[in-house]
Formats: sequence, structure tokens, C-alpha cells
Amino acid sequence: MENIGILGLGTVGTGVVELLESNGDLIAQKLGRQINVKKILVRDLSRARTPLARGKITARAEDILEDEEIKIVVELMGGEEPALSFIMRALENKKHVVTANKEVISKYGGQLLEMAGRVGVNLLFEASVGGGIPIIRPMKQCLAANNIYKISAILNGTTNYILTQMEETNKDFEEALREAQIHGYAESDPSADIKGLDAARKLAILSSIAFNTRVTPDKIYTQGIDGIELSDIKYARELGYTIKLVATGRRLGRSVELLVSPVMLRYDHPLSSVRDVFNAVLLEGDAVGRVMFYGRGAGKMPTASAVIADIMDAVRNDSGGRMYCTCYNELDVLDRGAAVS
Ligand code: NDP
Ligand code: HSE
Repeated sequence: MENIGILGLGTVGTGVVELLESNGDLIAQKLGRQINVKKILVRDLSRARTPLARGKITARAEDILEDEEIKIVVELMGGEEPALSFIMRALENKKHVVTANKEVISKYGGQLLEMAGRVGVNLLFEASVGGGIPIIRPMKQCLAANNIYKISAILNGTTNYILTQMEETNKDFEEALREAQIHGYAESDPSADIKGLDAARKLAILSSIAFNTRVTPDKIYTQGIDGIELSDIKYARELGYTIKLVATGRRLGRSVELLVSPVMLRYDHPLSSVRDVFNAVLLEGDAVGRVMFYGRGAGKMPTASAVIADIMDAVRNDSGGRMYCTCYNELDVLDRGAAVS
């Protein structure tokens, strides 16, 4: 059994606890061991929580960060502090860290990765960009042989949801934002979504990996969707365009050009059909050409999917990188050919 500690039990933390329960057997079969959530840190002990968290809740970070039986710490609190200090303390205590925190990773990812490397543990952050879309690992591993020279992406589910609702149902901005908050897509301070900062943080993470450099969000020209009105969307549509919040990164010799802003896209552009909470990342590499990643960019279960994949990787790495997949399902393969012929 592998004990983990979770910092935060909001939208994503609750999704992680629920998915570990509902798919627990499958996960254990793939890993060769159970994942046990030993403790969960929250701020407000009086709030109602999922029954799955009963007996595990604490308001003391030490209960997780100083527990020698917990080898993996999952940070799902958000914000810079105290999340950053907790991540550092977990690494100092030789614990693997999994986080969905783009604010921390985009600003301090380089230092934290160095620290994790020095200590010999993993720092994994697949859920920090694109919610449930596999993007960090594919970029670091599957596309590692490429010179990636361009990123064009929709990286924020809340703003894409708002723009889609405004375009398709004529909802006003405020109403569409309220819906995105109810769905659990928005940050606790939604101005980070609306003003483009969340997308800039994600672009900083992606460009650091893609261009093999260090980019922080303050270096990215950022404009949000707060100035967009229903009439802008209507006129754009009449001209055959849709408005999207697009993040672009381009390698230009020894420089990079980085930008987050609302853009009018023609309806035949690959990003124009990305609707609601969906995100997409279009990469261009010298060997692979164009590759596109697409899926739900925010929300409880898609994000939990990415977080748990990282937890599983941390478990495998903690065991010397061995794959524990020793049990298989015996499934019958249906003979569809007979039905066709
Ligand atoms: P929520 O605001 O829903 O949950 C945050 C949780 O952290 C709450 O349980 C809160 O406790 C706890 N918390 C916050 N500050 C403290 C503190 N100082 N001490 C103890 N506990 C604290 O956030 P989300 O679940 O939406 O997001 C979590 C992280 O995942 C963020 O970094 C976010 O950017 C990222 N993310 C979110 C996605 C989404 O779709 N929501 C998608 C991808 C990434 P309490 O419940 O007591 O208030
Ligand atoms: N607030 C973020 C978004 C959550 O809407 O995309 C996912 O990172």
C-alpha cells in the first residue's frame, strides 16, 4: 500500500479522492498496490466534505509534511503561499510532489525541479496545463527529439466557456462566468482567468518545456477577455470569425515571442471549433510537423485524471521505475468480422 497526503479538498481534491475510490481496483491492478489517502489538509474544518474523507481531514500541514509514512504529497490548494512553502518542505523531506498549481510552477518550477533533482524525488505537474489533456509528459517525452518552433493554444476553460456561451446562447458575460464558477472551472479569484493571467501561466510552463528555456508569466504580453462584448462576438460572427483567447509562443532564432490575447479566428482554423470548457494545444515541431492535443481543460474529474496519473508515476518511480502491471483482465475479443461478412 502507498500512503499519500493531499493538501486541499476543493473541486480537484474531491475529484481525486472520488476517482481513487471509483477506479481504485483498476489503479491497484495497474500499479500492483493500493493507493491510500492517509491525510487531507483543509482550511475550514467545519465545511461539509465527501464521506470518503471521513477521519482523514486535518488543518495541520505537519500531519502530512512530517509524516514519514507519506511518500507522496499532492498539492491541490492553489495560490502562491502557503502552497510554495509546503511543496518545498515536502521536497526537503524527500517526498515526491504532484501539483496542479500553475501559479507556483510557472514562477518557481525551475528552482523546484532542481531541488527535486538534488533530493532524488519527483515533481510532477501534468494537471497544471490543459486540465485532463495529456500535454506535459508528451512534450517532455514523446516529442523530445523535436525543435518545437510554435505553440498555438486555448489554455483556459473558463474564458473559452464564457466566449462560447456568449456566442451560442447570447448570455451576457457575468451570467456565463457564474456558470463557469458553478461548474468548478474558475480559479478562486476568477480575475486570473478573465484577465488572461491563468493562460499566461500555462503558456510560460509550455514554452519553458517546448523551447527548452525558462519563461515566467511576467514576460508574456497578456490581454484578457474582460473588454469583449456581445456585439464584438456578433460582428465577428457576421464576418465569418469566432473570438477566442489564444496563447501563442514562437521561437525566432535566439528569441521567443509570447502572447496571450483575444483573437478573431476564421471558422476553418483548427482552434475555432474548440468549445465550452475544452482546451487545445497545437504544436509545430521540425520533425513531427503539426500535432494537436484536445480535451477538457478544467473541471473536477478531468483534472483528477491527470493528477492521479502523476501519483501513479510517482509510485512507480519510488519503486525504482518498475512497472508493476502483473495482473491482466481476461477479456473475450468479439468476432465482428463474422457479423460483417
Ligand atoms: P478550490 O478552491 O476548489 O480548493 C482549494 C482547497 O485548498 C480547499 O479545500 C481549501 O480548503 C484548501 N486550501 C486553500 N488554502 C489553504 C490553506 N492556506 N491551508 C489549508 N487548506 C487550504 O480549488 P480547485 O480545487 O479548483 O484548484 C486546486 C488547484 O488546482 C489550483 O492550483 C488550481 O489552479 C488547479 N487546477 C484547478 C482546476 C479546476 O478545474 N478547478 C483545473 C486544473 C488545475 P477549504 O476547503 O477549507 O477552503
Ligand atoms: N481556471 C482554470 C481554467 C482551471 O478555467 O482553465 C484549469 O486550469
